Amino acid sequence: MGCPTVVLNGPAGNRLLFQNDFNIIANKQPISLTRIVGKKSILELSGEDHKRMRSAIMQFLKPEALQKFVGRMNSIIKKHFVDCWDERTLAGDLLFGLNDSEEIEILSQDFTEAFKALWSLPLDLPGTAFRSELKARSRICKRLSSLLKVRRRELHEGKFCPGQDLMSNMLSSRNENGKAMTEEEIIDNMIALMSAGHETTCNLLINVLRLLALNPHVYQKVLEEHMEILTKKEIDEPLTWDDIQKMKYTWKVCQETMRLISPVFGGFRKAMKDVEFGGFVIPKGWQILNLYAKILIDYLVDEKEKTFGTAKQKESEVKIDFGKNKREGQIKKVG
Ligand code: HEM
Repeated sequence: MGCPTVVLNGPAGNRLLFQNDFNIIANKQPISLTRIVGKKSILELSGEDHKRMRSAIMQFLKPEALQKFVGRMNSIIKKHFVDCWDERTLAGDLLFGLNDSEEIEILSQDFTEAFKALWSLPLDLPGTAFRSELKARSRICKRLSSLLKVRRRELHEGKFCPGQDLMSNMLSSRNENGKAMTEEEIIDNMIALMSAGHETTCNLLINVLRLLALNPHVYQKVLEEHMEILTKKEIDEPLTWDDIQKMKYTWKVCQETMRLISPVFGGFRKAMKDVEFGGFVIPKGWQILNLYAKILIDYLVDEKEKTFGTAKQKESEVKIDFGKNKREGQIKKVG
């Protein structure tokens, strides 16, 4: 990981990570991840910088903003169920406003290459996974940089509106002093969002499918909920935000799946001071790895609760606790 690391795997670890001050526990990723995703990404920022970047990203990811993309998501997903399933096309459209399939394909291959070994040893030598990741990152940066130039011009000429995709949103965003984001900030955060949103969503979807296959009675109820929505629609009528709001049982299934299998394996931070934790001291400068994935299973003491569909109130003690801190509601709103 590039520096001494303490590994935590309990709810108290969550509280430490999410309830502390950035002056005590700061965002800091392992070297390989920082080199691939970029040092200006939200995953690296703390304090005011983090707040500013988060608010710019949230302008695009908050539910009110996402509502207007449901139609676009629906048609892209439908097309790709038919052609080939590739969720990055969706990201290509919503994040970068790309609809040229060839360009999306090239970018998608570079992202796949860049994210192949995010946690690899940071050995920048010929033949290593890290070296090819770095090369992929530099191709992505080049592509996004020329895309940014085009989008900047289109925004200027009124051919594109801020809010149409994340890139134009970031280009138009200003901080309280009226300062725009730098190209580096925009590119690093685009890459961060691709990495934050990609595997998490895939993992959840795969786990949901698996648990539905293992629990046919749950699958039946999900199917009924979707058929109920579908039968009230005309043939080929696109999915709407209202339809999604009706998928209450489906959402419960997703939450229950995440209770049992976390789509995220862990989160990294850095101790900015000596931190006392559970009778030990985490020395200043040490990296902290909190294993979200392990917490869920280890703390479900009751064997019965390890089964799909057995969530109880006790869950509040074990769920990832994002608490009352500066990043409150992070997962609810962003992830
Ligand atoms: C099932 C899907 C998802 C899950 C379970 C999930 C989970 C998480 C978790 C656990 C964190 C905190 C990591 C840490 O700080 O240690 C996080 C942060 C984040 N996620 Fe997600 N995420 C999901 C999807 C997404 C998507 C689709 C996006 C955007 C395209 C996204 C963007 C982010 C961002 C920007 C952060 C950093 C927020 C901050 O530092 O304030 N996530 N997510």
